[in-house]
Amino acid sequence: MEGLDIENKQQPNSLNLRPGLEGVPVAQSSICDIDGEKGDLKYRGYSISELAEKSSFLETTFLLIWGELPTSKQLKEFESQIQMHRRLSFRVRDMMKCFPESGHPMDALQSSAASLGLFYSRRAIDDPKYIYDAVVRLIAKIPTMVAAFQLIRKGQDPIQPRDDLPYSANFLYMLTEKEPDPIAARVLDRCLILHAEHSLNASTFSARVTASTLTDPYAVIASAVGTLAGPLHGGANEDVIKMLEKIKSPDRASSFLDQAIKNKEKIMGFGHREYKVKDPRANLLQSFAEELFARFGKDEMYDVAQAVEQAATPKLGPKGIYPNVDFYSGLVYRKLGIPKDLFTPIFAISRVSGWLAHWREQLSANRIYRPTQIYTGKHNRTWEPLEERSSITKN
Ligand code: ACO
Repeated sequence: MEGLDIENKQQPNSLNLRPGLEGVPVAQSSICDIDGEKGDLKYRGYSISELAEKSSFLETTFLLIWGELPTSKQLKEFESQIQMHRRLSFRVRDMMKCFPESGHPMDALQSSAASLGLFYSRRAIDDPKYIYDAVVRLIAKIPTMVAAFQLIRKGQDPIQPRDDLPYSANFLYMLTEKEPDPIAARVLDRCLILHAEHSLNASTFSARVTASTLTDPYAVIASAVGTLAGPLHGGANEDVIKMLEKIKSPDRASSFLDQAIKNKEKIMGFGHREYKVKDPRANLLQSFAEELFARFGKDEMYDVAQAVEQAATPKLGPKGIYPNVDFYSGLVYRKLGIPKDLFTPIFAISRVSGWLAHWREQLSANRIYRPTQIYTGKHNRTWEPLEERSSITKN
């Protein structure tokens, strides 16, 4: 008997295959606008650089989810609700204590986020109060979960949030048990603004697909976290630092790139489906890294990163491949004293805003996602009794 033939290319079908849905519009959205040729990114019509300079992460979150900047009363109310809901139930903390400490923090976060659906099981997705409460809970609790797992895996008890500290400062405090330097906290807050939304990337699409089934928002966020974890998406920031550590010194950057390109390996932190120029967020993150280096001392890996960018420009630039958001973010987080495997969870803390904005938008004009496929398998096969079958090739 022949092996399973999944390569059967005969296509009686006239459907146009679009792997990765590249260039296929599947939703109308008013949340985020990307100009990949110019390297321009806007949330709800506001430029990302202006938001990073003038806004806070919670204010930007409000803008993304409800479409307008909050009034000062709305912002105060939102901030105080978030502050009130930052704590985790002892049951969630106990559950997290049972996770293996060697597990990846993104897996811990996905499981913990999904568990919220058990605690808040009422599903009323057409009730504005339910939506507001779910937004508040998720924005408030996700950072606490990330920080809790970090302490738990070191054998410590998670510490409680501090009510006197703003969002990003409190996260750093819960992570390090020290009140952070205000510049460090502000840089982190600005990083969260930059990562909060980016139209229909893989994890946001995942969130919208899950939302389209009308399931609860905790399942929506858990599915998006799982999607963000992959190395071709949010996981790349961790791999960038591993790559820079492997290159070790600036003079090795060019030969490393040549070898990688020859072996058809991807350079982590480079390339983007949308941008054909340097990602505007990479420029801003690079400036944040420099701000931190000026205050707290330089990271020698920054020289390596710059050498990689410089060497890559003539080699990959002609193909429209430039640094993306993940290339410099790891250097910022490293300077903030954050371990490598927490880079992607921090991305998730921020992207929850965008996912929730898309959750709301999906519900406002919902149609369940159900794409089609082009069948490439066999047809009309004859059943063979078990004793007459020869071995098959597994793939
Ligand atoms: N290094 C080297 N070559 C690259 C890179 C890269 N980082 N990215 C793309 N290319 C090349 C591919 O080899 C391919 O070349 P070919 O046409 O000669 O075969 C061509 O560019 C197109 O590449 P695709 O992978 O088809 O482009 P796509 O739009 O599907 O991929 C992606 C975008 C996944 C981001 C890709 O650039 C990549 O894998 N980058 C590295 C991982 C990374 O940094 N991911 C983070 C992205 S940002 C984010 O998700 C938050």
